Amino acid sequence: MTQNSITTDNTLTDRFGRRIEYLRISVTDRCDLRCVYCMSEDMKFVPRAQLLTLEEVIRIGRVFTELGVSKIRITGGEPLTRRNIMEVFNQLGSLDALKDFTLTTNGTQLSKYADDLRHAGVDRINISLDTLQEERFSRITRTGKLQRTMDGIDAALAAGFKRIKLNSVILRHRNHDEIIDLVNFAHDRGMDISFIEEMPLGVIGDHDRAEAYISSDEILDILRQQHDLIPTTDTTGGPSRYYRRTDSAARVGFISPHSHNFCEDCNRVRLTAEGRLLLCLGQEHSVDLRRVVRTYPGEDEPLREAIIAAMDIKPRGHDFDLNSQPVILRHMNSTGG
Ligand code: GTP
Ligand code: 5AD
Ligand code: SF4
Repeated sequence: MTQNSITTDNTLTDRFGRRIEYLRISVTDRCDLRCVYCMSEDMKFVPRAQLLTLEEVIRIGRVFTELGVSKIRITGGEPLTRRNIMEVFNQLGSLDALKDFTLTTNGTQLSKYADDLRHAGVDRINISLDTLQEERFSRITRTGKLQRTMDGIDAALAAGFKRIKLNSVILRHRNHDEIIDLVNFAHDRGMDISFIEEMPLGVIGDHDRAEAYISSDEILDILRQQHDLIPTTDTTGGPSRYYRRTDSAARVGFISPHSHNFCEDCNRVRLTAEGRLLLCLGQEHSVDLRRVVRTYPGEDEPLREAIIAAMDIKPRGHDFDLNSQPVILRHMNSTGG
């Protein structure tokens, strides 16, 4: 165990002095959609036998909270497609140390799960939605039906989460003409919305990512033709920079890995569905926690030590370059963003 990876107040810290208080857990790499920026048409998924069991996921999540992590986000693929997934929400949701328990989902299963998630203690949810047009939705997701996600959004609104945020990946000439409509849709229903610059993870075989790139500043300029937007210092502990409208409490966020790098403030690590602890979304540095939990089934100390030691290999940041072939071959579905 290294000396500088956990501070005396029991917080994980990396070698650049960044405190790690946020864990993103991907519970499956599978998804019922095939979004063109996230996956290729023909994906191979991790065999089920290689996944962490739900008990292992819960155990790792709990140990992270004992090491000072106060925010956990459950991601996928589509997390709500994993069988018996409510077990994870119920168990982690009951941990006192967890101050912010969140979910990122495509919304397709929310009609079924929204109430149970709220009762399990999920505070906020982020729902991916890139278009309000049925045909376009089917094209961008390759397989999806817009109405299912819309029904899921309605169920989430009715369930009473503290905040709901929509996530939109904007691609030039695919959906950039809907930026204002998407903001109006979100804000009319009291939801925040974040616009995300596409990241070059895995080969997708759909569009040229450099050609489809549209910067957050360009999106902001488009929005300002319609709304007064004021920068805020609000943070949800994630990378979004938020703006507020003068006539509404709802916010517009920008996640801009290319145009406004946020690595300096990084406070998070990720657990893949196979139990790999990834230290950065845009790099390969990782530690195999599945091996640790399986070698020491009844003992938490080796797991604690492995997590603390992992902080020393957290890299400074990503090296995304939209103009060359993706260096990171894993697709976004293996980390859920
Ligand atoms: P909150 O701030 O908690 O609402 O969450 P979030 O917006 O960070 O999470 P969400 O799962 O909705 O992710 C939105 C987008 O942010 C996804 O495209 C993620 O890949 C991206 N994102 C989140 N964290 C990071 C990060 O550390 N690095 C990079 N490059 N992108 C990130
Ligand atoms: N670049 C940026 N965002 C992506 N997402 C999926 N793939 C990519 C990508 N290559 C988004 C999804 C979801 C969030 C978790 O990540 O739309 O909202
Ligand atoms: Fe953190 Fe890596 Fe994301 Fe940068 S790219 S914010 S270092 S996870």
